[in-house]
Amino acid sequence: MNKTKLVNLPSDYQIPERDSDKTPILEARHLGIDFGGLTAVDNFNMAIGRTEIAGLIGPNGAGKTTVFNLLTKVYQPTRGTILLDSKDTAGMNTEQVNRAGIARTFQNIRLFDKLTVEENVKVGLHNSTLYNMFDGILRTPRYWSKEKVAHERALELLSIFDMQGMANQKAGSLPYGAQRRLEIVRALGTNPSLLLLDEPAAGMNPSETAELMDNIQKIRDTFMIAIMLIEHDMSLVMNICEGIAVLNYGKIIAKGTPEEIQANPAVIEAYLGKQKEDE
Ligand SMILES: Nc1ncnc2c1ncn2[C@@H]1O[C@H](COP(=O)(O)OP(=O)(O)OP(=O)(O)O)[C@@H](O)[C@H]1O
Ligand SMILES: [Mg+2]
Repeated sequence: MNKTKLVNLPSDYQIPERDSDKTPILEARHLGIDFGGLTAVDNFNMAIGRTEIAGLIGPNGAGKTTVFNLLTKVYQPTRGTILLDSKDTAGMNTEQVNRAGIARTFQNIRLFDKLTVEENVKVGLHNSTLYNMFDGILRTPRYWSKEKVAHERALELLSIFDMQGMANQKAGSLPYGAQRRLEIVRALGTNPSLLLLDEPAAGMNPSETAELMDNIQKIRDTFMIAIMLIEHDMSLVMNICEGIAVLNYGKIIAKGTPEEIQANPAVIEAYLGKQKEDE
C-alpha cells in the first residue's frame, strides 16, 4: 500500500508532504452543480499536490465523472471555485482549461477510429506544435519541420507504453487495452500539469491493470505532473494513490491516505450498503 505522508495546508486541505513547499496544482472549493432538481455534486473541496497521484472513488452514480466534467468545464459549476495553479478558472471553457494545463481521458473511449495511432496522438499536440493553415496547404518548409517535430514527439510519447510499433495502425483496430493506453498518450500530448483519468482500468484484465499501474507511476515520475484518477479497481487505487477522496451521493464522505480510507466506517458503509441494495 502507498505510504506517502499527507500534510495539512493552511486552507485545511491535504497534499503529500513532498509537494508541500509549493502551492497545490488544483484546489476545488465548495464546488457544486445541480441538474434541474438533482444536486449531482455538492460542497466538493479538494487540493492536489504538484506531483501527487490522487484518487476519486465512490459507488456508481456518486458524481465522480461529474467532478471531472466540472474541472474541465464540460459543465460550468453552479457553485464554488476551481483554482488551477492558483488561478481561478471561472469563465474559462474546455479548451482554455486544457491550454492552462488540465488533460483528461473519458470513461468511454473517445478516439478517432479511422485515423492511425500516430495521427490520434498528433491531434493532441496542437498546444505545442501549431502550424497555420497556409503552411499546411502549401506544405511550406515550416510545415515540414513542424511535421517532423510532431512525428518525433508522437513516437516518443507512444514509447511510454511501448506502442511506437503500432503508430501506423488504425486506432479502431487496436485491442481494447491498447485503445485505453492510446487515450492516455493523446492526453499527455497537450503537456498537462494535471492529468485526469476516468476509470483507466475499466475492462482490463489483471495483468493489463498491473502494467497500467506501473505506467501511471512512470508517467508521474517522468513528467513530474499530478494525476487524478477515478477507479473502481481498489487494488489499483490503494496501491498507487496518495490522497483519496470518497464521494457518495455527490458529497465527499471521507478523505485521506489509502490506510485511512480503508479503515473509515463511512466508506465501508457506503460500499457495503450499495452491495446490499444490489442483491
Ligand atoms: N448532464 C446531466 N444531466 C442530468 N443528470 C446528470 C448529468 N450528468 C450526470 N448526471 C447525474 O449525476 C449523477 C452522477 O453521475 P456521474 O456520471 O458523475 O456518476 P459516477 O460517479 O461517475 O458514476 P459511475 O461510477 O457509474 O461512472 C447521476 O445521478 C447522473 O444521472
Ligand atoms: Mg463515471
